[in-house]
This record gives sequence, C-alpha cells and structure tokens, in this order.
Amino acid sequence: MADAEIGLIGLGTMGAALALNIADKGFAVAVWNRTVEKVGAFHRTAGPLADRIVPCETPEALVAALKPPRAVLLMVPAGEAVDKQIAALRPLLSPGDVIVDGGNANFHDTARRVAEAEPVAFFGVGVSGGEDGARNGPSIMGGGPRQAWDRVAPILTAVAADYDGTPCAAWLGEGGAGHFVKTVHNGIEYAEMQAIAEVYGILRDGAGRSAAEIGAIFSRWDDGPLDSYLTEITAMVAAAVDPETDSPMLDVILDRAGQKGTGRWTAIEAQHLAAPVPGIEAAVAARNLSARHDARQRAQETFGAAPRRGEIGVETLEGAMIAGKVLTYAQGFAMIAAASEAFGWELPLPTVARIWRAGCIIRSAMLDDMATALEDGADNLLFAPHFSALLQRHHDALRETVAVAVRHGWPVPALAANLSYFDMLRTGRGTANMIQAQRDYFGAHGFDRIDGRDIRHGPWSAA
Ligand code: 6PG
Repeated sequence: MADAEIGLIGLGTMGAALALNIADKGFAVAVWNRTVEKVGAFHRTAGPLADRIVPCETPEALVAALKPPRAVLLMVPAGEAVDKQIAALRPLLSPGDVIVDGGNANFHDTARRVAEAEPVAFFGVGVSGGEDGARNGPSIMGGGPRQAWDRVAPILTAVAADYDGTPCAAWLGEGGAGHFVKTVHNGIEYAEMQAIAEVYGILRDGAGRSAAEIGAIFSRWDDGPLDSYLTEITAMVAAAVDPETDSPMLDVILDRAGQKGTGRWTAIEAQHLAAPVPGIEAAVAARNLSARHDARQRAQETFGAAPRRGEIGVETLEGAMIAGKVLTYAQGFAMIAAASEAFGWELPLPTVARIWRAGCIIRSAMLDDMATALEDGADNLLFAPHFSALLQRHHDALRETVAVAVRHGWPVPALAANLSYFDMLRTGRGTANMIQAQRDYFGAHGFDRIDGRDIRHGPWSAA
C-alpha cells in the first residue's frame, strides 16, 4: 500500500531517531537501511510507534510504499554515499518526487545535486541537535527548490523543535543555502566549544579548581547571559564521575579533539568569501593542534610546561565568555550575509536566528535578542544597541582574561582571536597602510591616499 508520507534511508543514530520523531508526529514513514537486518531490529524496538513505520527490505519496496509525489529523506554519511543513493533512487522515482539529504553535506555538493536533479527534485536540509534533537525536535535549515520544501515542510516543521509556538524549521534559499547555514552553525559551535574549553583550562590549571567546582561555575553561568545548551552540558560533563575509576570523567578523557569537517569547511569558505571569522578559524586550528598529541608531549619536554597558577576572578571569566560569544555570533552572521550576497541567496538572517533558538547545538538565550536585532534591521550584530551595550560592558573582561592567560602561558586561541578582531575593528586608522606601501614597493600594486590625490605609487623606485 502506497500510503507512507515519507521514506527514510539510513537508520544510523540520527536516521533512527528522526524516523521515530516523524512517526511520533503522526506520519507514516517507510524505512530502509543498506544493512537490512537493521530495518527489522529498528521496527521491533519502535514500540507503539511501530504501526506508523513501514519496514522495507529494498529501495524498490520503500519507493512503492510512498504516497506520490514521493519524498525520500537520506540520512546517510555525507559524501559519496549520498551520490550513490541518489543514483540508485533516481530510476525508481518520478518527476515531481523529491530526494532530501538530511546529512552534514558540503553545501557545494548540495548545490551541484540540486542543479543535476531534474526531473526528480533534490533538497538539502541541515539538521542540528544530535540524537536527542533528532528524536525530540531538531533545528532544520532547508535549502533547494521552494516546491520541494513545500512538499516536505508539513513533516519537517512538525518534527522540528518548537520555540514559543514557532517551529525551528525554515526554507532559507535555493541550492546549497540550507547546508551552508548548517555549516556556519557548526563553525560557531566549534568556536563556542573552544572558548569554553579555554575557560575550563584557566579554571583547572590556573585557578586550580576541581572538575566539580568548574561544573558548579558553569551551572551558575547557565542562569545568566551565558544561558545556552553548551553551557548547560558543560556543567553536566564537568560534574560527571567515571564509574571505572571514580575520577572526574573529564580527567580520564584524552585531550585530543575529533572533527568531521564542518568547522574546517566554515573556515575554508570564510576565506573564499573574504569574511573574517577569526574565532572560528582559531577553534579549527586548536582542534588540529589538540590532535597532535605526541608533538605536544615533546614540546612540553623540550620547553617545559608554561607557568601555571595565577589569579583571575570568575566574574571576569564570565564577562570574557559573554564578549567572546557576541563576537563569535557576529562573525558567523556576517559570514552568512556575505555568502548571501556572493551566491545571490537573500538568506533571511532573522529567520536563521529564530530557527537556532531551540533544537540546535548552539541554541542560547542570546539568539532571541539576535533575532530581534536582525529583524530591526541590524546589518551587523555588533552595532545593534543591545549587543554593542553588551560588548561595551564586557570587552575589558575579555582583555583581562586574555592578558592574564598570555602572561601565564594558558592557551586561549579563540578568546585571543576574538579580542584581536574586536580591537582591529575599532581601530579607525589601522596599519594596512604599511602593507599597501610594501606591496607597492615590491610589486607596484598601487594604493589609495587619504587625501584623495590621484597619485598611486610611492617614491621608492627613486630610493
Ligand atoms: C549538530 C552537530 C552535528 C555534528 C557533531 C559532530 O548540529 O547536531 O553540529 O551535526 O556532526 O557536532 O561534529 P564534529 O565531529 O565536526 O565535531
């Protein structure tokens, strides 16, 4: 019977959670997985939702189970697996049907797949929120043909997180727009996580605080301007104890960060767009450096560990985090605005802020104020009154934190990058006149004069 509203391929952690969420919202969902045993096992554990799940043994069976125009959601690993799945599905589908990719795809791939898709449409959705979000309400960033969104919007808005009655799901633009916004989301996620890790390091190595004490500090911060999912889970992971050793969980986890690539893509794309996102770039570099565990041991043996203990107030650290957060989000939104212009997307920035308010990993109390500021026409969050006031209040704390950290040898690459961004931005007369002079000296590249005279080269050749 062709009565399932949507098909879902890929019953990994995210796919399985999303399939249950879809069924939970009252939609019949047909499911298939390449390792077919997973299909039956998933169906058997679906409990009361099993009635709305149609387990399929082949892609053909899945397609046959769908109500036309058919919609198939791919929850398979990004990259080649998506192209293979599209190639396998295409002959089975009809014009007007749509394939939706819910993985963390590179937005260039999504744009290509959308362009190649006709007559079967292709649509990309960034899905954020991890397993819990997928099961109970993720944030969903859609990009591709509008008609394709209209076909799947009733399902995707129903399964998405809800913020005060507004679903955290939206169509953001054509082509790879949805996956692009998800990529920047992840870039911000990297920068936020890195800033938290830096402050954790200061508290641990500088102030000598225990993991439990650090957990309590983050828990308090979660009641203030830093209220966010990442602050909340930081408090919880810091408080957790390893059942094997009774040590704090954090103390037994190797300090080597993994990454699947979305933060890196943000940094690469930012460079292509000439959009400055130093907080995000520093966070990506820090993950790379963290992974060089052996090199770090060797450097510590060679140079000695940096002097450690030092004093810094917890309020100062909180202020530094607030200023850093504003700067990170401002960079992310400015990058989205730059891409919108470069790719002709007209990305709705207030909508992006709105659909990030719940469900996603970077959800935070500040995002509601960001949505308001962007709705009020702010072209850069830093100049929106609410956020410039926050920065006025807290940039000294960021400076104090970075200064003390640098003096004591506590590594703070993301905080320092954000501070330099801020300082450079507010230096009306910068130092690039030196770079222009050098470029002209060795390459006759020319420069503009501050007095507007039409003389584009210096007297160097005569020197
Ligand atoms: C989300 C997350 C998610 C991401 C993981 C791991 O929004 O739900 O961004 O999509 O895959 O956080 O990412 P890394 O392995 O790159 O840290």
